This record gives sequence, C-alpha cells and structure tokens, in this order.
Amino acid sequence: MQIQVGIITISDRASKGLYDDLGGPALKKAAEGYGWTLLADALVPDEKRDIQRAIREHIARGCSLVLTTGGTGVALRDVTPEAVREIALRELPGFGEVMRMESLKITKNAILSRNLAAVVDQTLVICLPGKPSGAVECLGFVVGAIPHCVEVLQEVPTSC
Ligand code: MTE
Repeated sequence: MQIQVGIITISDRASKGLYDDLGGPALKKAAEGYGWTLLADALVPDEKRDIQRAIREHIARGCSLVLTTGGTGVALRDVTPEAVREIALRELPGFGEVMRMESLKITKNAILSRNLAAVVDQTLVICLPGKPSGAVECLGFVVGAIPHCVEVLQEVPTSC
C-alpha cells in the first residue's frame, strides 16, 4: 500500500525565520528512503491551533501518515502532545514507549521527550523530537509498525 505522508515542523524560531527548518528536510529525506509519497509539508509556530490546523489540512489533502517534529519537550512552549491529544480519536502508546526506550540508548534526555503517536480521523500522526537527528532516529525506531497501522486505519483488508 502506498503511504502518503505529510510533514509538519513545529518551531517558533524556524517559523519566524530566525533559523532554518532542518527537521522537515531531514524527515523528507527519510520518508523518500522508506518509499513514501510526500503529499504536504508545513512549518508552524508552537501554537496549538496552528498545529491542529496543519494536521487537519494534511489529512484533507489525503495524508494517511503525518509526521511532526518539535514541541515534544519540557519547555513551556512545547505543546505538541496537548495539541494532538485534543483532536485525536485515540493514542497509540507503544510508539512513544519504544521511541523513549530506544532513544535512552543514545541520550539520557530521552525521558524528557513527550513523543507520541495518535489516530486523527483515519490518519496516523507521529510526533517526533525537534532535533533533526532525533526525529529521524525516533522514526526509525517505530517504522516497522507503520505500514500495518496505516493499512488498518485506511481499512485496507489485512492479514491479521
Ligand atoms: N531522542 C533522540 N533519539 N535523539 C535526541 O536527540 N532529544 C531529547 C529527546 N529525545 C533526543 C531524543 C531531548 S534533548 C528533548 S528536550 C526531547 O527529545 C524533546 O525534544 P524536542 O523539544 O526537540 O521535541
């Protein structure tokens, strides 16, 4: 099944042009590597409404998978988990658990990450760290479960 992906960079400073969005391009490269089709990308500030609007726009454009990078940390301005949970049907806790456990082998700061995955409408939304290397690493830790999850959510007949 062809996975159509949207990528959203969530960063006050990058959205103000204060520094380049490196996370978005890093995830685009990773998505191409996995053979996914990039349908949409966005750069928004750490604002709940902007994050929710970008996710909804990507879903409306046909994305079966949306990857966000940034805003999953402990800083006061980090609101990505709250924004996503507010519009999600359900959370898929296994994604966050694995991302933290595997990241712990790389950085002690992994437990500061509020990374998560959730279902919004019929789309899988995965929220990754803002650091480009962290985002690509965390995606790699959970990529194995993405095809089946997307098939089930898109109601494609599956084996299990
Ligand atoms: N996970 C991986 N694999 N690599 C990283 O660099 N950064 C950690 C954590 N998880 C990191 C990681 C740090 S420093 C923080 S603050 C949290 O992710 C949240 O990052 P964010 O605020 O950039 O979303």
